[in-house]
Amino acid sequence: MKVSSRAIGIFDSGVGGLTVAKEVFKKLPSENVIYFGDTARTPYGPRSAEIVKKFSVQNISFLSTQGVKLIVVACNTASAVALDYLKRIFQLPLMGVIEPGSRAAVKVTESGRIGVIGTAGTIRSKSYTKAIQKIDKKIKVFDYPCPLFVSLAEEGYINKKATYLIAQEYLTPLKKQKIDTLVLGCTHYPLLKKVISTVIGENVTLIDSAEETALEVKKILEQKDMMNPANSEPAYRFYVSDFPEKFIQISERFLGEKVKKVKKIDINKY
Ligand code: DGL
Repeated sequence: MKVSSRAIGIFDSGVGGLTVAKEVFKKLPSENVIYFGDTARTPYGPRSAEIVKKFSVQNISFLSTQGVKLIVVACNTASAVALDYLKRIFQLPLMGVIEPGSRAAVKVTESGRIGVIGTAGTIRSKSYTKAIQKIDKKIKVFDYPCPLFVSLAEEGYINKKATYLIAQEYLTPLKKQKIDTLVLGCTHYPLLKKVISTVIGENVTLIDSAEETALEVKKILEQKDMMNPANSEPAYRFYVSDFPEKFIQISERFLGEKVKKVKKIDINKY
């Protein structure tokens, strides 16, 4: 099989990476995609870096057996704590979501004051701060964990009073920092854009890492001459490590349409 017609592999801790898949489908309409959601071991956000690295190695090993040409680590937590480690182990082109999101934020900020929100693991790793300050060390980064946003998005608490109250609690300290740009550093947060924007202030530009990552995938495939020819009809395959029915049930919220077929695999074999 020609490299260009092989699929793009995407993995996440669960359903959230569908926000990245959605952007990849939109921006790369002729690419085949194989998605793996580690639903048996989700969430990754509260876990140690050591265990997230171990899970990520298994996820990539599985996707590698599917003959993918490039893998996107769609999970912010896995990108934050494991990407460098994974790049040392695997030969395959690998990309995460931290650098694309950081680059976009640096491009947008005028005041040089950027906020970052994510899971506990992502914020503890300081990966966004390092990536942003690697581009411009004068930029001030204010990072805050917002772990409850993950459950709220999954439970469909998109426009509820409780969600606004939690957002106020989380984002009030950040608001005081007078940022002009805010990175949504978690797969789930794009679903809460409206709430986050209302609370942080509509003058603050929200950076959606999912969108930026899909643009970066396109750039890499073009550079490597690995784009699938434009006339082909794409094939999408979805795998999870547990409970495919639940994945199907909540997929629409993240993807904009319901995933039709999902296969369960035993991730411990990899
Ligand atoms: N996918 C994770 C992330 O983007 C959020 C869910 C989890 O904690 O596993 O960080």
